[in-house]
Amino acid sequence: MKIEFVASADAAEVLVVLVHEGRTFAGNGQTVDAATSGALTKAMTNSRFNGGSNSTLIVAAPAGVDAGTIVLTGAGAADKFDDLALEAAAGAAYHAVKLSGATSITIDVSYLSADQAARAAFAARLASYRFLKYRTTLKPEKTPSVETIKVVTADVNAAEAAWTTYAAVAEAVEFSRDLVAEPANVLYPEEYARRVKALETLGLEVEVLGEKELEKLGFRTLLAVGQGSVRDSQVVIMKWNGGAKDEQPIAFVGKGVCFDTGGISLKPPEGMEEMKWDMGGSAAVAGLMHALAGRKAKVNAVGVIGLVENMPDGNATRPGDVVESLSGQTIEILNTDAEGRLVLADCLWYTQERFKPKFMLDLATLTGAMIISLGLEYAGVFSNSDELADNFLAAGPKVGENAWRMPIPAIYDRHIDSPIADVKNMGNGRAGGSITAALFLQRFTNGTPWAHIDIAPTAWVKDSRNPTVPDGAVGWGVRTLDRMVKDSYES
Ligand code: BES
Ligand code: MN
Ligand code: ZN
Repeated sequence: MKIEFVASADAAEVLVVLVHEGRTFAGNGQTVDAATSGALTKAMTNSRFNGGSNSTLIVAAPAGVDAGTIVLTGAGAADKFDDLALEAAAGAAYHAVKLSGATSITIDVSYLSADQAARAAFAARLASYRFLKYRTTLKPEKTPSVETIKVVTADVNAAEAAWTTYAAVAEAVEFSRDLVAEPANVLYPEEYARRVKALETLGLEVEVLGEKELEKLGFRTLLAVGQGSVRDSQVVIMKWNGGAKDEQPIAFVGKGVCFDTGGISLKPPEGMEEMKWDMGGSAAVAGLMHALAGRKAKVNAVGVIGLVENMPDGNATRPGDVVESLSGQTIEILNTDAEGRLVLADCLWYTQERFKPKFMLDLATLTGAMIISLGLEYAGVFSNSDELADNFLAAGPKVGENAWRMPIPAIYDRHIDSPIADVKNMGNGRAGGSITAALFLQRFTNGTPWAHIDIAPTAWVKDSRNPTVPDGAVGWGVRTLDRMVKDSYES
């Protein structure tokens, strides 16, 4: 998608005019309406369009203006108009005309700030994301025609300057979505590692650990998950050094199960194909690192992602197997489908030991139980640090990603005690399944301030209500993490 900031809406192919609830024009919509001799007002009063958010009304070939088409776009209540309402409007405007045959749309937000102009472009670009690389026979009328987003602003230079940051985040979200959307035959651990390694061009330092190195280091628990797969397991470490030389880093850890069959504790076939996105946590971490490097964030950050494929096989881990984790704690693997926590156990331990970070924050599509608890609109937040949890929870609502704090009460900790090892990889039955998973992870944090985000509900969306998040891979977490870093950890 091409993005341009322009000083006037002249000769727009498609002109987007924002309208607030109650059919009141925002900005200079009134002037456009007058130029059309009131055709816009007439179109509104003859329709149900009221300016409500996520609604549009197309006025074709209006006389009196040089725009080919005008899209009246609902911006919601004027007194509730904020950055997210602007994003929703820009996204909805894109969707209204994306298949129309028009090649460019012009969004007039000249009455808003330069930052908001850049944000409108950002939202339209996120809305335009589609994963079409394997659609070779897509009919022309089903193929998006819009190639350029023009945003009208009173300060083109300032909008362009603001855009560089927004563009970095948009690219990062797209990178993350692409990883999540890729099928597992294409995106297996080594291919994933190659794609992350390529981010070195952004200025990231990227280390890839293969199975030989992981064995030497003692990642036995992570390797136990991957040992049923013909694909080699990988751990990828990304470093962004944008802060002071001696500044302690912040650390992000991600579950990267490229495909989760459940292993010997095999999942039922219905819906198993969804488990290609069981690497969504790692994609959020890789996306965040992409964003930090892209916008040259003033912070030292590390990202550690554990990449494996969980397969049943003659060499696969069996239920009841006991392995010694990198931490030295022994783990009884009762259910090979509770594999994410095994991958994270070694990655968390390694991260705190090697980097001594200010905090560790992990993201994982960890438990189906999280979907039972919170439904599909909220991720769960588990933390031993109120400050860290609060910083995360403050960032989400600013970028339209919902999360909710969950408890990790010590009284449930005994549910993961094992009679044969130090810990077992599931609780007693299904009660509190997301909590016992978090308590398991906590045993591998060594007291470091830590937060665990269970994104099983939110990594993939089938019925999106958010115009900037098309159905499919969400790239969930990239925006929240980037915002959290910006608001709470940059110098
Ligand atoms: N990747 C799944 C969790 C999941 C399920 C994510 C559905 C998204 C949608 C995870 O590895 C898993 O299988 N967890 C088990 C844990 C259980 C065996 C203790 C689960 O949730 O059933
Ligand atoms: Mn599983
Ligand atoms: Zn899994």
